[in-house]
Formats: sequence, structure tokens, C-alpha cells
Amino acid sequence: MSANIYPVPESLTQGTYLSEETYKAMYDESVNNPEAFWAKQVEELDWYKTPTIIKNTDFSPEKCDIRWFEDGKLNASYNCIDRHLKDHAKKVAIFWEGDSPENSEKVTYQQLHYEVCKLANGLKKLGVKKGDRVAIYMPMVPHAAYAMLACARIGAVHSVIFGGFSPNAIADRINNSDAKVVITADEGRRAGRSVPLKANVDEALLNNACPSITAVLTHKLTGGQVNWNDDVDVWWHELTDECSGQCEPEVMDAEDPLFILYTSGSTGQPKGVVHTTGGYLLYTSLTFRYAFDYKPDDIYWCTADVGWITGHSYMTYGPLANGATQVFFEGVPTYPDIRRIAQVVEKYGVNSLYTAPTAIRALMAHGEKPVEGCDLSSLRILGSVGEPINPEAWQWYHKVIGQSRCPIIDSWWQTETGGMMIAPMPCATALKPGSATRPFFGIQPALFDAEGNELEDAAEGNLVIKDSWPSQARTVYGDHKRFIDTYFSAYPNVYFTGDGARRDTDDYYWITGRVDDVLNVSGHRLGTAEIESALVSHNVIAEAAVVGYPHDIKGQGIYVYVTPNDGVVADEALTLEIRKWVRKELSPIATPDLVQWTNGLPKTRSGKIMRRILRKIAANEYEQLGDTSTLADPTVVESLIDKRLNR
Ligand code: WTA
Repeated sequence: MSANIYPVPESLTQGTYLSEETYKAMYDESVNNPEAFWAKQVEELDWYKTPTIIKNTDFSPEKCDIRWFEDGKLNASYNCIDRHLKDHAKKVAIFWEGDSPENSEKVTYQQLHYEVCKLANGLKKLGVKKGDRVAIYMPMVPHAAYAMLACARIGAVHSVIFGGFSPNAIADRINNSDAKVVITADEGRRAGRSVPLKANVDEALLNNACPSITAVLTHKLTGGQVNWNDDVDVWWHELTDECSGQCEPEVMDAEDPLFILYTSGSTGQPKGVVHTTGGYLLYTSLTFRYAFDYKPDDIYWCTADVGWITGHSYMTYGPLANGATQVFFEGVPTYPDIRRIAQVVEKYGVNSLYTAPTAIRALMAHGEKPVEGCDLSSLRILGSVGEPINPEAWQWYHKVIGQSRCPIIDSWWQTETGGMMIAPMPCATALKPGSATRPFFGIQPALFDAEGNELEDAAEGNLVIKDSWPSQARTVYGDHKRFIDTYFSAYPNVYFTGDGARRDTDDYYWITGRVDDVLNVSGHRLGTAEIESALVSHNVIAEAAVVGYPHDIKGQGIYVYVTPNDGVVADEALTLEIRKWVRKELSPIATPDLVQWTNGLPKTRSGKIMRRILRKIAANEYEQLGDTSTLADPTVVESLIDKRLNR
């Protein structure tokens, strides 16, 4: 073993869920006898009908049919709320902490039940039925969770759209899923500024652009000015005012869809990843409990946004299925000042904190200042998710936030995997900074080379998963072929993750990042194709190619090569305009960092852009361009290098 190892802290080895020995025994059973293993785990949930058929999964490229617990019946909202009421009605489910430290609120399980039932009845009044899709475009307030759970309660399929997306992106997602209703708020708040959520929805719907929408349901949050159209607009408080606080949960099949979540891929528009009810809820509940060594009195805080999968699995379903108390944070980690995370930890006595490397790196730049004067002694476990965490950031997180006491749960997973796949268990796994360590129960990672050979022992290659697990995505909404092509065609009969990884001599995994054209910018997943399509929709741009490059805080920055139309003068003003354009067309998170104008892009003779070369130039590694002999016009490369922007 290498020297840089952090053993399980003494304090966590006593009276815990999972020791090293139990982890190993359970893992072995989970992969050698999945049926028996998962048949025991179903007790994690309350079922109307306990499943007897456990696993029925087929990864073959012809079919790709994935079912778990298929004869089971349950309701996700019942599992996240009702079953806790008997003994814990007064327990706090959500401590809401506003963008401004002056705003906060608490929601007990009893209140959660009341709000969710009222809204569920309200949605029924709007004509929403089991199986209908409901889009949710909300800020980080408890109403976002009410909306998701109200859908789950009546069997409607929610599709949460990240509050940072622009009108076009909203419209695309609404139309792809044929959503009947969209739920939003008048405005969001972030770092003291307001975000025009309702206005963005209005713009998305302009000129009947989303014909499936029959109602826009708006939560009054800030009281900001909004436009109103009596044909579709409904206030949340008016709709629910006369609705009952009781709503019988719909009995759902385990394989009924719970939600759709759009995520970026290598090509084309984002895919609507579909998750179903039983397997997803069971797996997120179980991983939450083990990964955070959850205890009933714990205060848990995940800093993600409900618009991403982490906000679904580890802010909504996982913690609530466990009856946990969590902090729901509206703001950003550096507002009003860089001590905000530490202040919130102290205010609520947070025991486990789950955040992203990009936030850690942003704080790390300030040394010890982000924790100055704050009491962090309540913290027991730290988590990291969303992108590879570099060892320096890991060490800082461990030392400064965790006070050298708390293990770091570096959890690797994806929108498509539904829950954590590779992650240390706090009481069972010795840590190595930068490694996500070992697989969770039932997960069989493997490494393949480009030719499709499985690599043995210590090796580096493309990361695949050899067998199904309960929270695996079942399909791409409306396009099962795309699901198969994306995940099951690179290598037959295994799930291809799109990530590269290294396995060391202790069988620990080190995720090296995406091996496809997906960018990870501040933990946000973006497809280069989406950004390119936003760019070329501007009338001065003839052609565009987008690549990522290493960025100290964001992990990856966005480097854009653009060819102007004939006669266009590409000056600074135009660069600024292009950056603004992408912000507006797609999202502020997709704003290009560097824009290089060029008269040509490196292409093969068959016209294919050679991104490998563009990536090297963007990374300022232009001396290692490799073979350029297949280029149609090699002089293009010299000029690109000459005017490169990342030096
Ligand atoms: C990356 C987020 C390294 C990875 C839950 C993956 C990570 C993509 C880690 C999925 C980690 C996520 N270490 N890389 N701990 N966690 N990733 O769908 O490239 O938004 O494929 O899901 O994030 O991003 P997504």
C-alpha cells in the first residue's frame, strides 16, 4: 500500500453499521448471489406488495430490458413521509436556510405530509393523472421537494429542470417529455440577486412553443413582479387553499417511472434519463444510510441543487426515505462571505456534509479563512461528488473543514446510475486522497481497453459495470434505441459509463474523468454539442467547436473555437456578445471561458473536426499533437497554436 492512507478513524469503528469484515461479506454476497442479497434488502422500504421477483435484467444490445422487483407495489411519497409519521411526526424533515442568513424555516414530517397532500390534490384538480409528466423549474426552497413528492404521490412523473437553464432549454425539455403542467416560482434568489424564473417559463411558452402545457403553477416566493395570463397561470397558494391535507397515495408498480431527468451526452440534445420507483428508492435509501453512516439524530446537509441528480437522490429520496433531518440551502457557499458553509454547519450542528470539489477549491484559495471563528465540532462525515477531487483539495477539505477527524466519502456516480456506485464506507474503508475507493453492494466495475479487452489487475481503461443494480436508468424517455446506443454498444453486455478510471494494486478505483465529449464544469455536466448548437445559432458564426481545458477552480473550463461568417470582424465586442449569447441561449453555467476566433478548424479529408488536436491546443500542450498527417490543411493548426488563448 502507498504511504498516503487514512485509516478508518477510531471513533467510527465502534457501534457502526458496517465494519471492514461486514462490508466484504455483504459485497461478496451481493455479487455472487444478487437475488438473495436484494431479497433481504427490500425490507428497507414499505411495500403494498412485497416483491417476489427480484432481478430480471438483460444487457444484450438487442433488447436491453432492465427490471427490478417487478411484482412489487409501493409509493415513493408514502415511503418518504407517511411511514415516519407514527413515531416521528414532529421530527424536522427540512431546515431551510435562505440565501440571506436572515431567512430560515423548518418543516416537520407532519407539515411535509400536509403540504405534499395539498399540492397532490391541487395537481389532480388541474387534471394531472398517473403517468402524466410534470415539469418543475424551482429554486432551492422546500416547495421544490413538495412538488416532487406530490407528483410521486399521485403517480405523475416529474421532470425537474435546473433553475439555471434558459427559456430555450426549458422548452426543449418540456416538449421532449410532453409535460402537462409546469411548476415554478415568481423568482429565485442567488447571492443577493433575483432570478426571473416565471419570466423564463413565460418566454419558453411564448407563441405556443410548448403546446402540451395546460397550466403554469407559480409559487409566490419573493413577491416580485410577474406577468399573468389567466388562460394558463395559477397561483400555488390559490390552487391549494381549498385542497384537503389528506391524499391517498397511488399504488405504483415498482417499475412505474418515478421521474425523468435530462442530462448531457456526447452528441445531440440532452437525454431524458428515466428512473423507476422501487429499485431507485431502495438503492438511494440504502446508499444514503451506509455512505453517511446515518443515525436517527443526525443532521445532514447536501449543498446540491434539486435540478441535478444529487438533489434527487441525496436531498429528496434517499434522506427522506430514511426519515432524516436535513438542511436545504437556497444560496451559494461564498455568500454573504466565504464562511457561509462553516456558519451553516455551526448553526444547525451539521453531522454530515456532502458537497462538490468545485466548492472546495473555491474555498481552499482562501486558506483557513473559510472556517475562521466557526465551531465545526459537530461534523463527523464529509462527502464529495460530481467530479474528480484532486488530492490537494481533498487534503484541504480533510484538514480545514474536517479538522483531520472526518473521513471523506468521495462518491463516484452518474445521473444514469441513480445512486452512488463507487465510494468508501466511512466505518469500513481506509481512504486514499483522490480515489473513490471500492464499489457499493452489487456493483461490479471493470476496465476495458479501446479494443474491447477486459483489463486485469492494476490497470487504466474505460470504466464499465458488468451487471445491473436496482437504481440503474431504465431507458431514455421516448428513445430506447438511444439508450442502447449510448450505454450498451461500446462494449456488448456491459454498461459503459463514459468515464475513464485506474485501478491500483489494492483494487481501489481512481476516476480519471470523461472519455467522451461531455464536459464537467464546476460539477455541472454539459455536452459540447449543446454549446456548439447554441453558438452556431448566432448569425455571425459559421462553425464552432467546443472543448474542455484544465481550470483551477471549475475543474474544466469551456474553450470555444469559432469561425465567423465572411465579412464579419471578430473583435472584443463580438467575443463579449458571443459569451452573452450562450448564457442566454443555454445557461450561465455554459458561458465560454475562452473564445478563439479562427478562419478554419482542423479537419480530416472527410470533413471531421479533429477534436483531439483542439483539446491539446486548449490545454496548452501543443507540442504533443500526435499524428496530424490525416489533416486536410495542416497550416490551420499552426495558426491556431499561434493565437492560442491558454498560455
Ligand atoms: C463525474 C453526478 C470523479 C463523472 C452525480 C461522471 C465524478 C459524471 C465523481 C456524472 C467523483 C461524478 N469522482 N468523477 N466522485 N462524481 N463524477 O450525471 O465524470 O451530473 O460520469 O452525476 O460526473 O455527472 P452527473
